[in-house]
Amino acid sequence: MENRREPCSFVIFGATGNLVRDKLLPALYQLERAGLLGPSLQFVALARRPLGLEKWNAGMREALESHTGADFDPAVFERFAARFFYLQGDHREPETYTALKEHLARPATGACENVVFYLAIPPTDFFNVVTQLGRTGFSGGLANHRIVVEKPFGEDLESARKLNAHLHQYFNEDQIYRIDHYLGKETVQNLSVFRFANTLIEPIWNRNFIDHVQITVAECQGIGSRAGYYDKAGALRDMLQNHMMQLLSVVAMEPPSQLDADALRDEKVKVLRSIRPIPRRAVNNYAFRAQYGPGAIDGVAVPGYQGEPGVEENSTTETYAAAKFYVDNWRWSGVPFYLRTGKRLAEQLSLISIRFRHPPQQLFRETPLANIEPNWIVLSLQPHESMHVEIHAKQPGLGMNTRSTKLFASYRKDDETPTDAYETLLLDVIGGDRSLFIRFDEVEWAWRVVDPILRHWSQDTSYIHTYPAGSWGPAESERLFDSEDHEWRNHV
Ligand code: BG6
Repeated sequence: MENRREPCSFVIFGATGNLVRDKLLPALYQLERAGLLGPSLQFVALARRPLGLEKWNAGMREALESHTGADFDPAVFERFAARFFYLQGDHREPETYTALKEHLARPATGACENVVFYLAIPPTDFFNVVTQLGRTGFSGGLANHRIVVEKPFGEDLESARKLNAHLHQYFNEDQIYRIDHYLGKETVQNLSVFRFANTLIEPIWNRNFIDHVQITVAECQGIGSRAGYYDKAGALRDMLQNHMMQLLSVVAMEPPSQLDADALRDEKVKVLRSIRPIPRRAVNNYAFRAQYGPGAIDGVAVPGYQGEPGVEENSTTETYAAAKFYVDNWRWSGVPFYLRTGKRLAEQLSLISIRFRHPPQQLFRETPLANIEPNWIVLSLQPHESMHVEIHAKQPGLGMNTRSTKLFASYRKDDETPTDAYETLLLDVIGGDRSLFIRFDEVEWAWRVVDPILRHWSQDTSYIHTYPAGSWGPAESERLFDSEDHEWRNHV
């Protein structure tokens, strides 16, 4: 993509925040190391703190050193840091935009037609920043100006529509990059290849062979210092409405006619539209929520959610959300998709697990094979990327004993380094490729699906199940299962 090399200014709003320190800077630094940033790419770090360039650089160096460990390369860092300008300003104030405009117009800073505005700020500030950018003349006909909006996009269907209409007042759709970093993850990208490049897989990827699908995103970490945001959002808005609905749509979509941005997104939207609406009175049959109490992670005692700084007293915000969806189309009719996510769970583990049906005839009823486990295809997103198929084979020797065997389709060789999702997505923003970004109808349909759950939970604030930090969440979530032989898969 040649336009990656064109001059570009990349403005980071909320530059001193966690997202920038933990995700954006490490990803951009890796792109620098790989020589993928064009020679005239400049960064403007915009934040309120009175740091100055020197202190900004020192802070950035510290963050990158701790992130990359022994791999930190001072020469790469020097090159990277030389691209930065630190602009002190409050993104809610008009003066900041005047100062930004002046800075971007200076020939010395490489004034250019490509400007990326990356909103790494609290979602409550999106509206205001978009207005200010529009009023300062940073949008409209400037087709090469792009705006990157982090999730959550709105807090429900209605607010998402308002935010979208507001963005469209100032920016055209092809200037808007709604980011969901799960789409940049290797395993997610590889899932399409696995499905559509292997004639072996696609014929069995349907209700005739698949019994159910599980999507798990389990995290050990708590909410850290994010109570201000998280206590209002909860797990359903933070993870399930966006990252996990995207995973579901990539698992369930039909093969696109081609791999371009719109063809792919059309297929994902079709899946979201086919999800059976959850009747409001039956929410408890389809969704389950809980909150972590005190417990231990890796043997270290940790407080419960109610004890985290900034959480409201008696908050019933969920830190664990599980839901069951049906995709009512020919391919998936009757197949439950179980999704669950939680903070402070027993392990850091993100999995897509696909369980196949039992064989139609139980040939080995009188033998030790009687209770044979069905086949699984398991795709692990993290902590390690992997894909495997679980099948049964006879154990060598006398007797009819079997063992389960994993056929691994590992795709990373030992000398191939992993790429972070943000590296892929940031490079696409700089190059102007929107295929891995979200179109508004995807956001809209995903909100439609979860809205009945949100509304039900927000009205029922009297009680929430709890689970000890460091566990796999409450056993009561199993009430979502359609069959007695369904259980959460907690391992690769
Ligand atoms: C973010 C959520 O979008 O994704 C966080 O806001 C969550 O709460 C994070 O921890 C998980 O991302 P990853 O890439 O670490 O799985």
